[in-house]
Amino acid sequence: MKFYVPPQIPRLALAFAIFITLFLVLRHFLVPDTFGKYGHYRAASLIDNAQPEIHYAGQQACFKCHQDIEDKKAQDVHSEIHCETCHGPGEKHVVSSKVEDILKPSGREFCGSCHIINAGKQKSAINQIDLNKHNVGKNCIECHNPHQPWEMKK
Ligand code: HEC
Ligand code: HEC
Ligand code: HEC
Ligand code: HEC
Repeated sequence: MKFYVPPQIPRLALAFAIFITLFLVLRHFLVPDTFGKYGHYRAASLIDNAQPEIHYAGQQACFKCHQDIEDKKAQDVHSEIHCETCHGPGEKHVVSSKVEDILKPSGREFCGSCHIINAGKQKSAINQIDLNKHNVGKNCIECHNPHQPWEMKK
C-alpha cells in the first residue's frame, strides 16, 4: 500500500522550516552579545548599572569659575543651598562653559517651591511667605538677590 502524504503537509513543513530559520537568524542578531553569560539577563548591564552617567558636578566644580557668586552666597541665608539645587545638574556646563547648558531659574514659583506656605514645614526651619500677598506682580529677584537674599536690590 502506498503511503499517502497529503499535499498540505510538505507545505506546512516548509512554512515551519522558514519560520524557524527566520527566528534563529533574527534571534542571532537581536539578542545582545553578553546575554545569558551568567543567567537570564545581559551580563553587560551589570557594568552599565555600575557606571551611571554623572550629571551633577558638585558645587566645588562651580567655584573654579564663579568664586564671586560663592563669596556672596557664603555670607547669607542661602549659604547651605548648593548651586545645583537651584541650577540643576551642571556637569555638561562645567565642561562646556556654555550658558545654554545650565538652567537659570526664574519666576515666583521657583522661589515658592521652597518658600510657599506649607503646614508640613516649620517656619523656624524655612521662612514662608504667602505668594498671593508678598509683593504680588513682581518677580522675587527684582528685590532679593538669589545668591544673597538680604542684599536687597534697590
Ligand atoms: C570652566 C568654567 C565654568 C565652570 C566650572 C562653571 N561655569 Fe557657569 N559659566 C561659565 C561661563 C564662561 C559662563 C558665561 C558667562 C557669561 O556669558 O556672562 C557661565 C554662565 C553661567 C550661568 C548663567 C547662565 C545664563 O543663562 O546666563 C549660570 C547659571 C552658571 N554659569 C552656573 C554654573 C554652575 C551652577 C556651575 C557648577 C555646576 C558652573 N556654572 C560652573 C563658566 C563656568
Ligand atoms: C536659591 C537658588 C540659587 C542658588 C543656591 C544659586 N543660584 Fe545662581 N541664580 C539663581 C537665580 C534665580 C538666578 C537668576 C538671576 C537673574 O536672572 O537675575 C541665578 C543666576 C546665576 C548666574 C547668572 C549671573 C548672575 O549673577 O545673575 C550665575 C553665573 C549663577 N547663578 C551661578 C551660581 C553658582 C555658581 C551658585 C553656587 C555658588 C549659585 N548660582 C547658586 C538661583 C540660585
Ligand atoms: C532649595 C530651597 C530654596 C529655594 C529654591 C529658595 N530658597 Fe530662600 N531660603 C531657603 C532656606 C533653607 C533658607 C534659610 C532658612 C530661612 O531663613 O528661611 C532661605 C532663606 C531665604 C530668605 C531669608 C528668610 C529669613 O527669614 O531670613 C529669603 C529672603 C529668601 N530665602 C528668598 C529666596 C528667594 C528670593 C528665592 C528665589 C530666588 C529663594 N529664596 C529660593 C531655601 C530656598
Ligand atoms: C518689591 C520687593 C520684593 C519682592 C518682589 C519680593 N520680596 Fe521678599 N521681601 C521684601 C522685603 C522688603 C522683605 C522684608 C520685609 C517683609 O517681610 O516684608 C521681604 C521678606 C521676605 C522673606 C522673609 C519673610 C519674613 O517674614 O521675614 C522671604 C522668605 C521672602 N521675602 C521671599 C520672597 C519671595 C520668595 C519672593 C517672590 C515670590 C519675594 N520675596 C518677592 C521685598 C520683596
